[in-house]
Amino acid sequence: MAVRFGYVGCGFVGQGVHIPNFLGIPEVEPVALAEIRPQLGEKVQRRWGFRKLYRSHLELAEDSEVEAVGVSAAFSEQSAIARDLLRAGKHVFMEKPMALSLAEGEEMLAAGQEGGGRLMVAYMKRYDAGAQLARQYIDEFRADDSMGTLFYARNHGFCGRQWDAGFRGRIETADEPRPEPGPPRCPDWMPEKHCGAYVWYLQQYTHNVNLLRWFLDAGDDARVTAVDLGPDGYTGVVVFEINGVRAIIESANTTHFGWDMNTQVFFENGWVKTTSPPLLLDNVAEAVEVYRGGDIQQISHPLPDPIHSWCYRREAEHFVECVQSGEPFRSTGEDTVTDIRMFEDIFRLWTESQA
Ligand SMILES: NC(=O)c1ccc[n+]([C@@H]2O[C@H](COP(=O)([O-])OP(=O)(O)OC[C@H]3O[C@@H](n4cnc5c(N)ncnc54)[C@H](O)[C@@H]3O)[C@@H](O)[C@H]2O)c1
Repeated sequence: MAVRFGYVGCGFVGQGVHIPNFLGIPEVEPVALAEIRPQLGEKVQRRWGFRKLYRSHLELAEDSEVEAVGVSAAFSEQSAIARDLLRAGKHVFMEKPMALSLAEGEEMLAAGQEGGGRLMVAYMKRYDAGAQLARQYIDEFRADDSMGTLFYARNHGFCGRQWDAGFRGRIETADEPRPEPGPPRCPDWMPEKHCGAYVWYLQQYTHNVNLLRWFLDAGDDARVTAVDLGPDGYTGVVVFEINGVRAIIESANTTHFGWDMNTQVFFENGWVKTTSPPLLLDNVAEAVEVYRGGDIQQISHPLPDPIHSWCYRREAEHFVECVQSGEPFRSTGEDTVTDIRMFEDIFRLWTESQA
């Protein structure tokens, strides 16, 4: 049975990434689109063949024909959109961050429990074929102990100019005003002057925290132990204990020509490392390096199967498969709430350091 699909938000990410990916899956039936801007909505509806068009996600939430919905919008908008859809019983695929505060995240989970909708948060790195291969090696080395103790993990994320890989997908535009999104709703305890820095750090490094937790199979067993971020609340180092392992994230925003991000998991006798392509680079997976120390020193660069695939397309496929089968998502809302708790903790420590 095809999944009766709706989408909310005809912005860059919706049009450029998710709508084409979902509608490229044969088991997806494009039922309804919601977009505040009427002309833009009509253009995107026509282009992608959604049967119905709504002006707001609330109208789409009432459409009983729609069973699953994709959502991408501004940080201040998308949590409430997803919450309303979950409460209406829709299964929701949403962009990160899930929410800006733990309270908002828990409200969303409660809405899902109330309405019966299930939430997947689009952490595309968990669906990257190279990252999945790296995770297999990490699991294997932990299980058979052939690499000794896993004692350290490091994520280096200095960003760069080409996160979108010069992406030039054709995006419909319309000459009509867009209602300005409201201000972000930061956690209640946070001084207002720190809200901007918090949202900026969170929206970027939520990918990195989420990936480290997944590589280390940590679930909710993750906490922040030290924060050394500069006055911008962005540049520096954060230290974690994740599933009993010391881990760090190095963050900065440089003019690197591509996308300067890699993740390395260290064992006593070697490591597993992934190096990221620019985020939107289609059909290129994380590069994997496995180093084995000991008597015969060896570095290998295993390739994933398939070698060429796009993590954003794979996450859409995963969502559809899980909606059809009832299997749990690999990046659930319940799991993601841990990231939000950790970001609040990072900024609690950073706020203290700025006093
Ligand atoms: N995973 C990634 O690599 C990645 C990369 C970039 C951005 N993102 C995420 O994507 C999101 C931003 O997406 P975007 O750039 O497409 O946003 P956008 O603001 O350009 O588009 C959102 C659209 O939603 C519409 N909209 C807002 N509220 C609505 C409502 N209630 N009902 C119907 N339509 C509504 C707006 O009019 C707008 O057209 C952010 O959350 C960001 O974190 C993720």
